[in-house]
Amino acid sequence: MSSVTIATLVGRRESNTPFSCLTAYDASMARLAEEAGIDVLLIGDSLGMVMQGQTSTLPVTVDDIAYHTRCVARVTSRPLIMADLPFMADTSLSHLLEASCTLMQAGAHMIKIEGGAWRHEAIAELTQRGVPVCVHLGLTPQHVNNFGGYRVQGRDPDDAQRIIDDALDLEQAGAAIVLLECVPAALAQQVRDALTVPVIGIGAGPDVDGQILVIQDMLGMTGEKTPRFVKDFLKGEDSVLEALAAYHEAVVSRTFPDDEHCF
Ligand code: KIV
Ligand code: NA
Repeated sequence: MSSVTIATLVGRRESNTPFSCLTAYDASMARLAEEAGIDVLLIGDSLGMVMQGQTSTLPVTVDDIAYHTRCVARVTSRPLIMADLPFMADTSLSHLLEASCTLMQAGAHMIKIEGGAWRHEAIAELTQRGVPVCVHLGLTPQHVNNFGGYRVQGRDPDDAQRIIDDALDLEQAGAAIVLLECVPAALAQQVRDALTVPVIGIGAGPDVDGQILVIQDMLGMTGEKTPRFVKDFLKGEDSVLEALAAYHEAVVSRTFPDDEHCF
C-alpha cells in the first residue's frame, strides 16, 4: 500500500472522504495503528501526560519527541508521521530550525506547531526549507497557563474571528494542514470552508477533513479525566486492533464524532 502524503490528504479533502489520525509514541501501538488503516500518526507532546505522567505538556523536550518519533517511524511505512514542536523549542530561529531538523531526521514527515499569526515567519521559513507544517489553533495546550485551564476556545465572536484570521494568515504563510482543538463545531466548519488545505479536528465537530484523538483516550485508558470529545472505541471490541479499526471506520464514515462529542 502506498504511503500517505500531504497530497493524499488534500485529495481526501477534495473527495470529501475524511482521514483518520491518532497519536502514537511507541512501536507496538504504531504497528497496530498502521494495520488498522490509520492515515496519520502524531507524536504529540501529549506524551508528557500519557507517557511521562506530567500534568501539562510544558516539560516535554525536543529529545523526548525525537525519541518517540524514532520508535514510531522505525516500524511504520504507510502512515504520514507528524511530530510536535514542544514548548519553547523555538526561542530563536536557529533553535526552531535545529529542533525541526532533529524531528525530521528522527523520521517525521512534517512538524506541528501551536500558535497564531505570530508564527507566520516561522512557518514560511520551515516550509521553504522542506519542513511542511501543520498549525495547531484553538485550544493550544502549551498556552494552558494563559487560558487558565483546558477550555473550549472561540466561543465569543472576537475569539472566533481571530481563529479564522489566524488560519487564513498561516495558510498564506505556507501551512500545509490546520489542526483545530476544542472549538465549537460551527466555527470549525467555517474555518474549514475558508481554507483550501486539509483541516484536522479534535473536539471540533464532524465538518472537518480529518479527526484525531490521543490513543490512550480512545482506548479508555484515561479514566475520569476523559474529555467530552473522546469516545472509548475499545468498548464492544475484542482487541486493541479492532478498536483502532473501529475508530478508523467511524471517522471515514463520519459516524464519529457524534453530537455528544461536540461543542
Ligand atoms: O499532543 C497531542 O497529542 C496533540 C493532539 C491532541 C492534537 O497535539
Ligand atoms: Na500537542
